[in-house]
Amino acid sequence: MSSPAGARAHWSSRWAFILVTAGSAIGLGNIWKFPYMTGTNGGSAFVLVYLACIVGIGVPLLMAETMLGRRGQGNPVDAMRSVAAEAGAARLWQVVGVIGIVGAALILSFYSVVAGWILDYTVLAVQGFGGMDKEDLAATFAALLADPWRLIGWHTAFMLLNLVVVIGGVTGGIERANKILMPALFAIVLLLLGYGIAAADMPAAVRFMFHFEPQAISAPVILAAMGHAFFTLSLGMGAIMTYGSYLERGTSIARTCLYITVADTGIALLAGLSIFAIVFAQGLEPAAGPGLILQTLPLAFAHMPLGNVVGVLFFVLVAFAAWTSGISLIEPATAFLVERFGIGRKPAVAVVCFVAWSIGIAVALSFNLWSEIKLFGLNIFDLLDTLTTKMLMPLAGLLIALFAGWVMKRAHAAEEIGLHGGAFRLWYGTVRYVSPVAIALIFLNVIGVIG
Ligand code: PHE
Repeated sequence: MSSPAGARAHWSSRWAFILVTAGSAIGLGNIWKFPYMTGTNGGSAFVLVYLACIVGIGVPLLMAETMLGRRGQGNPVDAMRSVAAEAGAARLWQVVGVIGIVGAALILSFYSVVAGWILDYTVLAVQGFGGMDKEDLAATFAALLADPWRLIGWHTAFMLLNLVVVIGGVTGGIERANKILMPALFAIVLLLLGYGIAAADMPAAVRFMFHFEPQAISAPVILAAMGHAFFTLSLGMGAIMTYGSYLERGTSIARTCLYITVADTGIALLAGLSIFAIVFAQGLEPAAGPGLILQTLPLAFAHMPLGNVVGVLFFVLVAFAAWTSGISLIEPATAFLVERFGIGRKPAVAVVCFVAWSIGIAVALSFNLWSEIKLFGLNIFDLLDTLTTKMLMPLAGLLIALFAGWVMKRAHAAEEIGLHGGAFRLWYGTVRYVSPVAIALIFLNVIGVIG
């Protein structure tokens, strides 16, 4: 089902947009990455800065990016070209779209490998984790990372799942799937939270995540937290812009973006609490790194009533959450290829997936055969994560803030956003001053220019 330029697809309703965009935002970032990054970055210091970044940078930019997509009515490159033309600005602003498309392909490459871990653990959960202790689980995870074929096999499977959905088009499949899966995911997170409260060490988890500890905040923690705020809200990678371009006129962008952010942040915090409650109850290491959820949650499943069923359900739902995000990483480049070069949707999706899949092979090998290949002390997986999350996303975000706040006509922004009076001025002032200054300062601070 190809959609020729000019006949753009549209979400069926405002709620469909909210669900689909929440589907993009809520993914491995919330359930896998947020807990492990909180663990490796000292707990509450990270959480605090992350929350500040969500409010001061994330929400305003989520609105700005959605707005540029809807106003520009196109894939990220063409949308930027059209809003720049409307504002009488340089065509060079298209580069925002290019950064997004390239960044999204890079994220998809490692995202798909990690989603592959989840698929692998879904199968393990079917067999059950009963009788396993923390050493067994550490060994299980190490064995997965050491096996290139297993990693590549699951990575390929995940990529194919995404390919099938995106080929199917914008509305039917994606929308319907999200309507069922997102509430189910929410339910399972609540269930785990219940377990965390009843059977694990919830007070320790609360202390670890929310104890006020300003002295633990350092430049690397701030950069990591800001990067994660971008990652978790899918910002700057063209995904939000493309989804925004399928949004009907007349919908309040401000309100929908608030709902999306609340859902995204809520899921991350609940997932974090549940996981750390188990970590502390079992005497595990909070700074275990990317394997954290795979080495903690199975312990809970091994001990809770109906743990087998809950375990399978959990991993299936995480896989679905990853799926609804993966799709949104493919759509921007697909829309670009279709609209710019007039090629069919099928070949466009195939090209995008093939590129990301190929890079993903290198990511899979970076855990075993190629683990010695390093640049700046980082292996391929860490390098791609750092490049996208800590550099490309904030850079694109900075440009989006500058464009929305300084280049685009104020009246046009007001018309799109759907806020009036003081509320509009608050958003506008934040996008003009707070977000760009914050992003720039964090960058400068990290490269050691100041501070
Ligand atoms: N927000 C997604 C997550 O948290 C990841 C993502 C990033 C999706 C960028 C699309 C674009 O899992």
